[in-house]
Amino acid sequence: MDLPHSSSEQTLDPQDWESMRKLGHQMVDDLIDYWQGIRDEKIWKPIPEEVKAFLDQPLPEKGQSPEEVYQDFKKYIFPYNKGNVHPRFFAWIQGTGTPLGSFADLLASGMNPNTAIGEHSAMYVDRQVVNWCKELMNFPSEASGILVSGGSMANITALTVARNSFGEEKIRQRGLKAASSQLLIYCSVETHSCILKAAEIIGLGSEGVRKIQVNEQFQLDTTALRTQIQADLQAGFLPFCLVGTAGTVNTGAIDPMEELLEISKEFGLWFHVDGAYGALAKLDPIYADALRAMEEADSLAFDLHKWLYVPYEVGCTLIRDQKKHRDAFALTPNYLLQEKRGLSGGLDSISNYGFELSRGFKALKVWMSLKEHGREKYASMITQNNMQAAYLAELVRKSPQLELTAPVSMSITCFRMVVSGWEEAALRELNREILVSLQEEGIASPSSTILDGKYTLRVANVNQRTRMEDMDLLVREVIRLGKQKIASS
Ligand SMILES: Cc1ncc(COP(=O)(O)O)c(C=O)c1O
Repeated sequence: MDLPHSSSEQTLDPQDWESMRKLGHQMVDDLIDYWQGIRDEKIWKPIPEEVKAFLDQPLPEKGQSPEEVYQDFKKYIFPYNKGNVHPRFFAWIQGTGTPLGSFADLLASGMNPNTAIGEHSAMYVDRQVVNWCKELMNFPSEASGILVSGGSMANITALTVARNSFGEEKIRQRGLKAASSQLLIYCSVETHSCILKAAEIIGLGSEGVRKIQVNEQFQLDTTALRTQIQADLQAGFLPFCLVGTAGTVNTGAIDPMEELLEISKEFGLWFHVDGAYGALAKLDPIYADALRAMEEADSLAFDLHKWLYVPYEVGCTLIRDQKKHRDAFALTPNYLLQEKRGLSGGLDSISNYGFELSRGFKALKVWMSLKEHGREKYASMITQNNMQAAYLAELVRKSPQLELTAPVSMSITCFRMVVSGWEEAALRELNREILVSLQEEGIASPSSTILDGKYTLRVANVNQRTRMEDMDLLVREVIRLGKQKIASS
C-alpha cells in the first residue's frame, strides 16, 4: 500500500493564516458594531422567501472560501436574528448575552476541550463555576452541582436524582418496577412544562404528576396540596417529590417556599425548586425573603442564560447530597478509567454527575462574566429589571385603555388593552394584533399567554440593555397600535 506523502496530506486548517486572521478580526468588528448600534435597529424582521430558499439547499459537495461563507452569513443569517440582544426584547424568558460572554464562547470553542473528563484547565474552571453557583444560592460547600444546557436539563437532572434516591427501592438498578406503586411528583398548574416532560421521560408518566391549583397570586395552594397528598397516601400511591417554582414562567409568581419546605419535611418528600427564571432574584433585597427557603431545598435548578445574562446556553443543577447525585449517574466503563496521574487523572469526571459525556467549555463564559462584573453588579442589574417591571405596571395602571392581568412579580408584567363592551373573543383578537404588529414593525417583542381565560401581552424582562424609556415607548406603541386596530375594525 502506498502511504500518502506528507506534502499531499490534507487538513481543514486555512492555507493562508493571515487571511483567516483578517476574517476573524472582521467578524469581531462586525459584532461590536452590531451590539453598539442595536438600540437603533428594528428588533425583528420577517424572513424573505428568497432567504428561506437559500437556507433550504442540498448538502454542499465542494467547499467555498471562508470569506464567501462569511458573506453568506452576513446576507442570509445575521439580519434575521431573533432579537434577544435588543433592549426591547421581552418574549418568553430569554437573556441578552454580553460581549465578553460571547468572546468567551469563541475562546472556549477555540480551545475546544471536551469538559467531562481529564486533567486540564477547563475542568477546574467548571468546578470553580459550580462552586460559585453554590455560593450565589447559599448552598453548602459539600453540595454538588453540574452545568447543563438550560433549565429543562437542570430540572430533569434533579428529578432523576430524586427518583433514584427514593427509599431503598434501587430504582437505578431495577427500574420503576422496584417501586410498589405509582411514584408521584407534586407541583402547581403554573409549573413549567419541562417538569411534565421530565416526569414522562424518567418513567413516571404524566399520570405521575399531580398539578395543584393556584391562588389568585398564581402561587401553589398549600391547602389543596396537603389534601391531595393525604388522599394519595390513603389510596396507596407513593408521593416522593415536591416541586416549588421560584418565579413561574407565566407571571413570575413565587410559590410559598417556606411552607413547601415544611410540607416536604412532614411527608418525607424530596424538595426540588425550579428556579430556572427566578432563583437569581434572591440577589434583589425585595425578593430575598420570599426565596430564602429555596436555599434548603434538596435540589435547585436555575439558568445562567436568563438572569445572569450569559450567552446561550447554560443552566445549573445543585444537589444538596453529593453522594445521592453521584450515585444517580456514575458509571465507569473500561474506556473511561481515571488514573492517578497524567491526562486521565485529575478531578472526578463530570459525566459521573449527569447524562452527558460530551460537554463544551460552557463554564468559561460564566467564569469570565462573574469575574468581569461580580455579584454586586448582577444584584443591581436584576433589581433594575424588577424596577422596570414595576414601572411598566405603573404606566399600565395609569392608562385607562390598559389593564394588568396578573399581579406583578419579579420582572414579568402581564397586561392587555381593553375596550368596554367588547367580548373576550374580540379582546383576544385585538391584543393578538397588537402583539404581532409590535413584532412586525420591529418595535418591541413581548410574547403572549392566557391567564384566567384572558389573552394577555406578557413582558418578561431579563434584559441587561433595557431602560425605563423602553417601557414608556412600549406602552405608547401598544396604545397607538390598539387605537389603529379599533378604528379599522
Ligand atoms: C420556570 C421555568 N422553568 C424551566 C424553564 C425551561 O428552561 P430552559 O428554556 O432553559 O430549558 C423555563 C424557561 O423559561 C422557566 O421559566
